[in-house]
Amino acid sequence: MSAKPSSPVVLPDVASLRAAVRAWRANGERVALAPTMGALHAGHASLVREGLRRADRVVASIFVNPTQFAPTEDFSKYPRTFDADLATLGAAGCDACFAPGVADMYPQGFATTVTLEGPAKVDLEDHFRPTHFAGVATVVAKLLNQAQADCAIFGEKDYQQLKVITRMARDLDIPTEIVGAPTVREADGLALSSRNVYLSADERARAPALHGALRMAAGKIAAGEVVGHEMTEARELLAEAGFVVDYIEARHAETLERIARRADGPIRLLAAARLGQTRLIDNIPV
Ligand code: PAF
Repeated sequence: MSAKPSSPVVLPDVASLRAAVRAWRANGERVALAPTMGALHAGHASLVREGLRRADRVVASIFVNPTQFAPTEDFSKYPRTFDADLATLGAAGCDACFAPGVADMYPQGFATTVTLEGPAKVDLEDHFRPTHFAGVATVVAKLLNQAQADCAIFGEKDYQQLKVITRMARDLDIPTEIVGAPTVREADGLALSSRNVYLSADERARAPALHGALRMAAGKIAAGEVVGHEMTEARELLAEAGFVVDYIEARHAETLERIARRADGPIRLLAAARLGQTRLIDNIPV
């Protein structure tokens, strides 16, 4: 393997991405893909590092995908920090950054969308963002096809997204291995997110209560307390801390189906709640 440049090579289109991957493969190198929407933080750097544990080369994609935002959501004001992102990728050891434009990803006449069931239809994120996962799955299917990587790394912070993508890759026989990487947190427990920059100082101070409520519920369920009771208590705790709770639920960790008893399977607790204008999501295992 040749020495890595300190800044990743920018690949502006699919042809340059494919040429880079082809050259690495000709050298016998394994390739990992880390799909992102930019505004990169330490959580994204950890995706790159996970890729480097599994492959010789990592290509991160940066594409703010319009089709996964509803018209009421923050597509136009989503943070775009390309130069800082390249520095973050370089420091993490990333080899290349695939940064296509909207016209490359959705050319004139684009008319295909992935239709989803299973973990995409379980009344969690899909209830509050009904068009979101079709946009995610379609762009991720394109990215996986474009890169043809050996593995692709996604953060567990977007746990339902990870399960939707895993299911889609399996169902569509996409050969890239889908890998989940653990959530990276601030010292006070707040999960890193590009949207944390929207929090006011007061909201930022209260935000770790989301992780706190999940941890408390997970601890009690693990100790044998009744699942439903603990989730109600966690919801009340969050409301007291000033959150508007979209959901805080115990689900089967693989199917994301509802689960009432610890004995019925591995449990994942998932939550989404709003503090002012900012919507936070988080999840932890029991
Ligand atoms: O998790 C994200 O940043 C996005 O949903 C993804 C997977 C890059 C698709 O746009």
